[in-house]
Order: sequence, then structure tokens, then C-alpha cells
Amino acid sequence: MPNTNKINANEYQQFKSFLEETCGILLGDGKQYLIVSRLAKLLRAEQVSDLGELLTQIRQPGQQRLRDAVIDAMTTNETSWFRDQSPFNVLEQSIFPQIEEKQGQIGYRIWSAACSSGQEPYTISITLSEYLASAPQSKLRNMQVVATDISESMLDEAKLAHYQDANLDRGLSETRKRSYFKKAAGGWTVSDEIKRRVSFKPQNLLTSYAGLGKFDIIFCRNVLFYFSPERKTDILKRMAAIMSPGGYLFLGASETTMGYSDDFDMIRSPAGVFFQLKS
Ligand SMILES: C[S@@+](CC[C@H](N)C(=O)[O-])C[C@H]1O[C@@H](n2cnc3c(N)ncnc32)[C@H](O)[C@@H]1O
Repeated sequence: MPNTNKINANEYQQFKSFLEETCGILLGDGKQYLIVSRLAKLLRAEQVSDLGELLTQIRQPGQQRLRDAVIDAMTTNETSWFRDQSPFNVLEQSIFPQIEEKQGQIGYRIWSAACSSGQEPYTISITLSEYLASAPQSKLRNMQVVATDISESMLDEAKLAHYQDANLDRGLSETRKRSYFKKAAGGWTVSDEIKRRVSFKPQNLLTSYAGLGKFDIIFCRNVLFYFSPERKTDILKRMAAIMSPGGYLFLGASETTMGYSDDFDMIRSPAGVFFQLKS
């Protein structure tokens, strides 16, 4: 188990660089305690004595699995159902009706770009089901949600779609729980109606988006704030390039495109704020 006192300045610097270069996360100064608390279990399991030895190992070829496990341990996966509420109100009240009015497109797509354990993409799918209930002739019926994350363990949890009561209590009403989940051993499983629209795949936001296809709506929430201004600019530019004309972008409540991208307008709708690709 590493000890904060045993992490020397040089190792700390090297670990910070590894993290920034591989997943974009900027570790501030004095965060040795975070490394200790997050890596202790992994180091024990891998029988690695300290941070110095870990740095040696992750630099070696053939250690992708260990590099991934380190990133997995260092990322923050905090999420909840209907997180911040407003984006989902905006979707249902403003954006779905606006897309409905657009001419001629079929096959609408939403990207949940750092989906953690699945609450965000499943919340989007629940929101769509609720919208469709009042718009039975809608052309959004076949809308697909592509959910990605850098963390394989989060993607495994998300695909399992099985949650404990305590987890569902974070943001989900009793009515929604009973409508969109099935009681299953030790918790609740997302219903097929909600699951079938959502697909999961690994995607590091720092690497190419080629192969993801085009999106009408992108959710990229509560992840950009870990990144440097240069990384934010680069990610927003590449997201803009794979959005349909007039596409919609949701960021976290404390995040913005301002200062990082000129590709989007900030729109204040009655239900809340979102960003729209300039035409
Ligand atoms: C705080 S959670 C946000 C989850 C969800 N979007 C929300 O707002 O509730 C941040 C997620 O970003 C993921 N992440 C961190 N760095 C990433 C990267 N470079 N590429 C893709 N995902 C990343 C983490 O694994 C984590 O699941």
C-alpha cells in the first residue's frame, strides 16, 4: 500500500503526466492522498509495492490492461438518475419537439459521451419514452442512444443494467422505478423498452471519433471540467464535426463552451440551458 510520504516529487510529476496524456485528467498539486486512496486496492491486487514500481510497469509494452486499470481507479464515476433534472426537461419540452419539426431525416442519434455506470443514457431513454407517450405519431420512435466511457468496469456495470434500491433512490421517483424497471434479485433491472435503444462501447474522449457516426444530440456532462483548456477546445471542435446541422449539446451545470469553442450558441430555453451548433 503506498504512503503519501513515500510518493516523491518526481514520481508524482510522472504519474500526473501519465494521467493527463492518457485520459486528460489534470491532477492538481498536493493530490498525493488521492493517488494513495484510489490505487491502494489495485496495487495490493497486482502485488506492486509502490508508485515507483507501478510507473515502471505501466511504461512497459504489453501492459495495456494495467494502464486501463490505473485509469479506471483514478477516474471519478459519480452520477445519478435525472442528474440536474433540467437537461431532461429541455429534451422533452424543447428539443424533441424541435427535431420533430425538422424535415426529411430518419434515424436520430444521441451520444452520451461519458456515461459512467449508465444512469445518463438510461435517463435519456426514459425521457424519450415519456415524450413518445404523448406523441404517438412521433418520428423519434427509433432514436438510438450510443453511450461511451473510457472505463471498461463502468461500461460492464452499465450493460448489466441492474441497480440496487439505494442507487435508484438517487434521482428516480417510485413511479418511474415501477414503470421502467423490473424487480430482480437484490435490486432492479432496466426494462427492455428502455434498454433496447441504448448501446455501449468504449471511447476515450482524447482519441479519434471516426467510426462513431453523426449525432443530433450530444451529452458530455461532468467530465470536461477535469481537462485542460486545450483539451476542452479540441474535444468540442471534434464533437462539432460529428454533429448534424443545428445539433444540440448538453454540458454539466458548471461547464460551458464559452472561451473554448465558437461553434456553439448558448440557448436559454424556459426549461433550461443548452448549446446549439451554429448554422
Ligand atoms: C463524473 S462521471 C459523469 C457521468 C455522467 N456524464 C454524469 O454527468 O452523471 C465522469 C465520467 O467520465 C469518464 N471519463 C474520464 N475521462 C474520460 C476520457 N478521457 N474519455 C472518456 N470518458 C472519460 C469517467 O470514467 C466517468 O465515468
